[in-house]
Amino acid sequence: MCGIIGYIGDKPANQVIFEGLMRLEYRGYDSAGIAVLDQGKIVLAKDVGKLRNLRELLLTNFPSISSQGIGHTRWATHGRPSTFNAHPHGDCMATLMVAHNGIIENYMKLKHSLQSAGHIFKSETDSEVLAHLIESHYKGNIEDAVLKALAQVEGAYAIVVLHRDHSDRLVCARKESPLIVGLGKGENFIASDVTAIMQHTRRVVFIENLECAIVKRDRVDFFDLAGKPLERKSSLIDWNPIAAEKGGFSHFMLKEIYEQPQVIRNTIGGRTQEEDGKIFLTELGLTGPDIFRTQRIVMVACGTAYYAACVGKYLIEQLVRIPVECDLASEFRYRQPVVDRNTLVVAISQSGETADTLAAVREAKLRGAKVLGIVNAKESTLTREVDGLVYIHAGPEIGVASTKAYIAMLTAQVLLALLLGKIRGTLKPEFVQETIRELKILPQRIEQLLSNTAPIRALAEKFKDARHFLFLGRGINFPTAMEGALKLKEISYIHAEAYAAGEMKHGPIALIDKDLPVMAIATNQSVYDKLVSNIKEVQARSGTVIAVACESNCDIKNVADYVIAIPDCPEILTPILSVVPLQLFAYFVADLRGLDVDQPRNLAKSVTVE
Ligand code: AGP
Repeated sequence: MCGIIGYIGDKPANQVIFEGLMRLEYRGYDSAGIAVLDQGKIVLAKDVGKLRNLRELLLTNFPSISSQGIGHTRWATHGRPSTFNAHPHGDCMATLMVAHNGIIENYMKLKHSLQSAGHIFKSETDSEVLAHLIESHYKGNIEDAVLKALAQVEGAYAIVVLHRDHSDRLVCARKESPLIVGLGKGENFIASDVTAIMQHTRRVVFIENLECAIVKRDRVDFFDLAGKPLERKSSLIDWNPIAAEKGGFSHFMLKEIYEQPQVIRNTIGGRTQEEDGKIFLTELGLTGPDIFRTQRIVMVACGTAYYAACVGKYLIEQLVRIPVECDLASEFRYRQPVVDRNTLVVAISQSGETADTLAAVREAKLRGAKVLGIVNAKESTLTREVDGLVYIHAGPEIGVASTKAYIAMLTAQVLLALLLGKIRGTLKPEFVQETIRELKILPQRIEQLLSNTAPIRALAEKFKDARHFLFLGRGINFPTAMEGALKLKEISYIHAEAYAAGEMKHGPIALIDKDLPVMAIATNQSVYDKLVSNIKEVQARSGTVIAVACESNCDIKNVADYVIAIPDCPEILTPILSVVPLQLFAYFVADLRGLDVDQPRNLAKSVTVE
């Protein structure tokens, strides 16, 4: 997620802003910039890479007397990391600057119409559209121009705007992406999170969704996006700085679980046109002939990414009708894989630096296969070695146990399967439109799940001392069971394994007794009755079963010992919702066991060695 900061007061703006950006470094970024207003002129410094590069620029030709400015650290989504893609972005004549966090979904349409009106763009980003849109509405009143511009924008944003005609104010606004105002004495601040400004003030106003603010040195006025004035109360932040980095959550993992609704919006952002069922994966790098020539797909990944690939197998085989194999990258690289120019290899990786996955990609390319990367980290090694890309836009994932990246990988694969199915003619347009509609509702469904985690915490309390756990799933949720087992074992150190529920009678059922709790993912309707039989087999041997089931299922409470309900959704999307209770269950168990949730023993966030 990008970092935003704005300052207006009596101190040197570049210093306050630079220090604030330093405090946002933990969020991860690939470029940064600062713009200040100095005697009616906007001065801009931005650079790719670490903030120390920006410091060099600031030390050379940057006015230190300016006391009004904005700054930004960028985690690239649209447009590669580069100086010209770094924020802040200006309008044609640099009369104003904008820093933005979020995704403008309709930016292509807006950009084309602004370009036809003569606006000259300097970057590849969606964010720059905001600067030109505000410019196109500006007639002397900056807040009015900002509101008019935002009325045309679809998508998520947190923005701060600096205009050369207005040395007495900054304007900011938010839709979905977080933004706060920090209240000082004779100075005020704007930031994407409290960490950036805590050393100056702990009195803040959390800007609510669809609100804006005019921030002056001695006052702040709040409005809704229609311009109606609002009364807003401030809060006093009593978090310590580390807690602030976690946004008040006790662990990054929990914060990232709660970020998942926004992550899905970011993964989808700008890539679908619901009305005509269009999917845009602009960096796919595969031509129509490549896609038609593909006779099979081999997916390679490690850990959580491998389980995401296993869900992808079900999605692609069901929607695209191409055979899909999933292979652990560490196995693929040594088994002299049978791949050729008619094989599409799909490598999935959050970090894009996993040694085994990189080696698998190189092996696949040596054998003539096209390789597509599904990746989170921009400009990572993997992104430079594949033929095409689908970025998952999960933002930096700090917790070693992957959560939001997994959800983003699944969401990206739904988009990929829909696109490939459309191209190969295996999907009806109405199915694609309906699935896009359902995908866009998922964030609210996850928010509903996250609004009441008490039942899951209670189950964690009950089972936190278990020595073993069995996870069962069928069909598209068999990988969900595997991911749930990985979450539990890697952060709570409880031995947990996953089985395809149908496999129980072929051996694992011998394990069942009263000391082996079972988590059954019973959310896919097509095999529900079979899974109920497996649950009963477990109970007949004194096993205890926790079932994850859809809230409309009234039968399951008569079957399982405990039930965790998830909102209903189409079967192909159930892996996205079903994994959230498993993430939370693992988190609560580990936390209750007093373990280091974010940095589990023996684990690294990115396994860059064999
Ligand atoms: C996930 O919770 C683990 N931390 C680990 O299995 C991880 O998924 C695996 O190392 C792959 O990492 P990557 O996605 O960065 O390639």
